[in-house]
Amino acid sequence: MNSTQKRIARRDFLTSIGRAVGSSAMLKTMAAMGIGTSLASCGSSSAAPGMPGSPNPPPAIPSPRPGDWPTNVGVGKSVVILGGGIAGMTTALEMTMLGYNCTILEATPVAGGRNRTIRAGDVINETDSSQTCLFDFDSDLYFNVGAARIPHHHEFLLGYCREFSIPLEIFTNFNSGALMHSATSFNGQPQTARQVQADTRGNIARLLALAVNQNALDQELSANDKANILQMLRSFGDLSGNFDYPGSERAGFPGQQNTGSRQRGESLTPLQFQEIISETFWQQRQDFPHSLNQQSTMLQPVGGMDQIARAFENRIAADIVYEAVVTEIRKITDGARVIYQDRVGTSMTIDVDYCICTIPASVLRNIPNDFASAHQSAINNFNYAAAGKIAFQSRRFWEQDHNIYGGISWTTQDITQMWYPNAGFGRANGIVVGAYMFGSNASNFANQTPQQRINSAIAQGNNLHSEYGNEVARGISVSWPKVPFQLGAWGTSDPGILLTADDNIFFAGEHLSILQGWQEGAILSAYHAIDLVVSRDIP
Ligand code: PHE
Repeated sequence: MNSTQKRIARRDFLTSIGRAVGSSAMLKTMAAMGIGTSLASCGSSSAAPGMPGSPNPPPAIPSPRPGDWPTNVGVGKSVVILGGGIAGMTTALEMTMLGYNCTILEATPVAGGRNRTIRAGDVINETDSSQTCLFDFDSDLYFNVGAARIPHHHEFLLGYCREFSIPLEIFTNFNSGALMHSATSFNGQPQTARQVQADTRGNIARLLALAVNQNALDQELSANDKANILQMLRSFGDLSGNFDYPGSERAGFPGQQNTGSRQRGESLTPLQFQEIISETFWQQRQDFPHSLNQQSTMLQPVGGMDQIARAFENRIAADIVYEAVVTEIRKITDGARVIYQDRVGTSMTIDVDYCICTIPASVLRNIPNDFASAHQSAINNFNYAAAGKIAFQSRRFWEQDHNIYGGISWTTQDITQMWYPNAGFGRANGIVVGAYMFGSNASNFANQTPQQRINSAIAQGNNLHSEYGNEVARGISVSWPKVPFQLGAWGTSDPGILLTADDNIFFAGEHLSILQGWQEGAILSAYHAIDLVVSRDIP
């Protein structure tokens, strides 16, 4: 073979790898063979199908990412992206850089999707109600109605924040000074997280030390191990000299959860351990900040999550058609056709080489289309969480009267949790999130009117902070299943076939990722869709 023949043979070989296993494998092979673009890096996360903890986790394949794709691969090709949320905007941003001519059709007047922040004067429309935000005008008085926290290892999202110079600050998931409240434990009295945690650790340590000292674990532990573990348990649980748990200063002092009557030096009586173990609530809520996606450090953009949406939007605004409501998605020879209504109600048609659809499955299933039956049925059967939230403006009584700065109080009531603002500390007023729920209680919430939601959130909030109803005002709520063009909070079904192309139509969105319900998932899904498209265009 001469050198030209060798090159062609090598390219045929690579193309067949590409067809067989997808383009990122091909690109990695190309890189390894010293051909083409930069070396594809091995991501730690995967955009492959399957949910965490599912019985058959997907094989660990590195997820594609920018840098995997040859520059100019898209020159001369057109793409329509349906939906201007984080998935759609990531797709447009990255594909434009590859030379594709991108157009985003966004149904609403503002991009961002469920990355949305509400401030004075903003309106929340649901299918059967409309609310105007009555907060005062102030940079700290905002409500992240959708995405609200970013795990420190969501590296692609945080990479964009860095690239866009978006200032970040800490979002507190666990606050020792916040409350845990069960209607059926401790006479319905809220307990400080610090005491629940100290007493749980103290009792676990006490019991394990007892087992060790009664020689129950001699099969597992050498004499030396026993000495070491006893030392560890004493410190883990703050045990006394004889490995008892009489209570710990870690739990705070009597009266510390309220104003005044603080008696330093006197320890609190430990909570009855039987009550802590008799209800899963106490364990679940203590475990929550240990899950991988909720561990510290959690972050938030200064001034509201929509700083991220605005930064994306600023870079691609020219390619976004706002208030463009998709009415049909069709296949044409070697391409796709999308019909939409523009902002004045005129029907418009756009023909492209590729369509990348990020419309939530809950909305997509009602748009006439030419999808293959397997894709259609996956879309029809896709489930969504029904999450909802409510927020109030209030004097910062939690800071001024209870020493609570940021973080979450938990309750067994429908409201589930209360979020204190993680910024603006020491200012007079703040926005408190008075409910954030995602189970069946979220569906109850969806069925209430905005005023009923306010009433029930205040009644329940009173059980955490007895002064609540006298302090909070201007309540405003969102129930994602009732928000037009969203009709759900986040996807919960297996992405399955929707990770594969349907002719020239590709799918993306948080629901089609390993990180459902996270902006990082939206980004990973965008990379996956881009990868599928690019694999078609690699010469
Ligand atoms: N990311 C969202 C949150 O942290 C929604 C979510 C909750 C997603 C729990 C997955 C699991 O609240």
